[in-house]
Amino acid sequence: AGSGKFFVGGNWKCNGTKDSISKLVSDLNSAKLEADVDVVVAPPFVYIDQVKNTLADRIEISGQNSWVGKGGAFTGEINVEQLKDIGCKWVILGHSERRHVIGEDDQFIGKKAAYALTEGLGVIACIGEKLEERESGKTFDVYAVPSWDNIVIAYEPVWAIGTGKVASPLQAQEVHVAVRDWLKKNVSAEVASKTRIIYGGSVNGGNCAELAKQEDIDGFLVGGASLKGPEFATIVNSVT
Ligand code: G3P
Repeated sequence: AGSGKFFVGGNWKCNGTKDSISKLVSDLNSAKLEADVDVVVAPPFVYIDQVKNTLADRIEISGQNSWVGKGGAFTGEINVEQLKDIGCKWVILGHSERRHVIGEDDQFIGKKAAYALTEGLGVIACIGEKLEERESGKTFDVYAVPSWDNIVIAYEPVWAIGTGKVASPLQAQEVHVAVRDWLKKNVSAEVASKTRIIYGGSVNGGNCAELAKQEDIDGFLVGGASLKGPEFATIVNSVT
């Protein structure tokens, strides 16, 4: 971890029931979480209200997606204003499952990010395409956003998501450095040094501490292991 505040997000994806979420919330409420870490969870939309009403305020809430603009006749979508209304501070955008399974493209994701930021919602902006794309800089072009103040970048190599194959600390560190260099060249040195770059892909209670030691890994976006309260707490506390 570098000098910025460590950031750990739990992406619950399309998992849970009222009962399992109530148990997860109570485990999180009783866990001891280091004070100097930003902690965010992203429940499925239908459970956000339940989580907001029961989870300690110390943990912020994120949507897993948002509509590209204002609401209206867009069946099945949830807009930024609704996420804010229900108490979300963040939204995850550009997750590889939305790109590769659902088919969202860069342009659409870029517009979503710009809209959410303009409306004051923080964006957990996912990247993590194939190496050729990363090297050509294409991975990042998607986030041509008005301001970088409220963005956390999540690097998730597609091969590491939900597979149990975590990137080695050095592999992840190398990409995080490349992302920071890109920010330096294409945005500014200040944004490059301030923006938190977090790693996602098979992070668990056993591998988080080594990853957290890397200078440019500023936190994690956790899938499977975020569904278990005590293990998620271990990951939150891995920076110390
Ligand atoms: O957004 C987090 C994610 O895609 C990683 O999932 O299950 O490999 O931790 P998982």
